Amino acid sequence: MGVKHVPVLVEEVMTFLRCEAGRTYVDATLGGGGHASEILKRTVPNAVLIGMEWDEDALSEAAMALKPFGDRVRIFRENFIHLPDLMEEESVDGILLDLGLSSIQLEKEGRGFSFRGESPLDMRMDQRMDQTAADLVNHLSLEELESIISHYGEERWAKRIAKAIVQERERERIRTTGALSQVIYRAIPKRFHSRRIDPATRTFQALRIQVNEELENLRKILDTGWKILKRGGRICVISFHSLEDRIVKEAFRRLEKEGEVRILTKKPVKPSEDERGRNPRSRSAKLRCAERV
Ligand SMILES: C[S@@+](CC[C@H](N)C(=O)[O-])C[C@H]1O[C@@H](n2cnc3c(N)ncnc32)[C@H](O)[C@@H]1O
Repeated sequence: MGVKHVPVLVEEVMTFLRCEAGRTYVDATLGGGGHASEILKRTVPNAVLIGMEWDEDALSEAAMALKPFGDRVRIFRENFIHLPDLMEEESVDGILLDLGLSSIQLEKEGRGFSFRGESPLDMRMDQRMDQTAADLVNHLSLEELESIISHYGEERWAKRIAKAIVQERERERIRTTGALSQVIYRAIPKRFHSRRIDPATRTFQALRIQVNEELENLRKILDTGWKILKRGGRICVISFHSLEDRIVKEAFRRLEKEGEVRILTKKPVKPSEDERGRNPRSRSAKLRCAERV
């Protein structure tokens, strides 16, 4: 039995999306299909769910989870930035974006997302993309590496880590998650190794964001996604780190100023203590929601 992904902030998302029969919803990040199943269960007998997911493994997981709902579900293997083209003239009542990685991706051997274990340094969510984390680590300039690790990882030791990577790859190509972790551990002075978070966490986050162009994709969908909402339709975004949350906050503010949406979450909604206890992955989750006016 493989790892299960536990969806976060389920009740909060369902409330904001006002799930009702007869409506149409988009889950643009299907993952294991957790939120999507919940939407479908609460909108019996006839709401339609349009699902998007660019990861082949996640997509088959989601397709299996959503099978019981039959033809109420339409699934696409696409980058969510293509949502508006996909919908053509059709408009919808709600859109959900649950960003980042699913536990299935994180834990699956061979994907290279986790600094634990030894796996090829891949990190592509969409296996059709050309560039892997190993390509970045072995080919970017020192300055580019430092900038990515510093900006996307918010890592104070970015310069030292970038230098150590360049030194190591001159000796031998860095091929695996284990090899990269070792370089990072050596680059950060021992007395600054935190016991709370692994020293490799921030660098791995940074590379993953760059490989998958996560922040660019988020900006693009926030720029255009709201246009497929009906008046009164809602967009919910769950983010997992401050870089993402800032982009969502600023995009919603700008759209509100332009008179396109009304923000329903003045402050982001966070998981209850109970949820944080039950699901440690939920601890950094923040939900923001806006309604098309
Ligand atoms: C946190 S998981 C979603 C979990 C899901 N809500 C559930 O309940 O099982 C995020 C998913 O979004 C997918 N994803 C991330 N960026 C994407 C993009 N630009 N286009 C399509 N899917 C994307 C990832 O592959 C991952 O499977």
